[in-house]
Amino acid sequence: MTGNELSPRAITADLGTHFVGQRTIYYPRLTSTMDVARKAARQGAADGTVIIADEQTAGKGRLKRVWLSPKGNIALSVILYPGVSHLPYLVMLASLAVARSIEAVTGLKTEIKWPNDVLINRRKVCGILTESDVRGNKVSYAIIGIGINTDLKTADFTNIPAETTSLAGESGGSVLRVAVIRHLLVEIERLYLALPDETVYEEWRDRLVTLGKKVQVTSGNNILRGTAESVAKDGSLLLRHSDGSSTEIIAGDVTLRYQK
Ligand code: BTN
Repeated sequence: MTGNELSPRAITADLGTHFVGQRTIYYPRLTSTMDVARKAARQGAADGTVIIADEQTAGKGRLKRVWLSPKGNIALSVILYPGVSHLPYLVMLASLAVARSIEAVTGLKTEIKWPNDVLINRRKVCGILTESDVRGNKVSYAIIGIGINTDLKTADFTNIPAETTSLAGESGGSVLRVAVIRHLLVEIERLYLALPDETVYEEWRDRLVTLGKKVQVTSGNNILRGTAESVAKDGSLLLRHSDGSSTEIIAGDVTLRYQK
């Protein structure tokens, strides 16, 4: 044992949550925790069930991208059954929970790039993918997928964006995955149980590095440029263009144009 192995017992022992992570299912290797979580949710998995893997062979990113997920990093999905009014908050609470947990365990300062990338020193350390199945006014299930580059050797990959980092890279040493995961599950539950809570929206908004910056947003086939003016409580971004008009962006990928 190097002390950084994952095991359900190490994650759940005296975790102190009511339901998030109380049932944690660990896989050394799987395609994607999202696939396994979706199947489990459809079969009625308990609220707060966590699917966690040491390695994903087909990790999924936002906007149909690939998420690199070799051994040694954090890849997990949390199954929840929220009310429909809570859905927009999942993106906010997930990125907040990650930001708080990284800061608590490593002491590193984090920022959030809209909608939910967690950055350290302006480089991405965590990506979050949410998925839900809504029928009418009822949420059948929601899944929060979280990937944290704990020990990702960015130099080993050619197909990785330049602005990618890892906890080990930023802290100059190895970071205990289990400590980050346990913090994360506690924070997710704390924030989730507090919903609907204005402070979740407010803290997420206040941590966004994006606001007030000149940005380029790729949304579908469109590339839009402007100033990221504000975010609404449904999580959408208001982009103000140079001619004074504005666009509300529901989903997209933001490039900060001020940097470097
Ligand atoms: C992104 O930034 O594009 C989102 C990345 C989300 C990655 C996580 S890792 C755990 C879960 N399983 C997946 O296949 N994807 C999410």
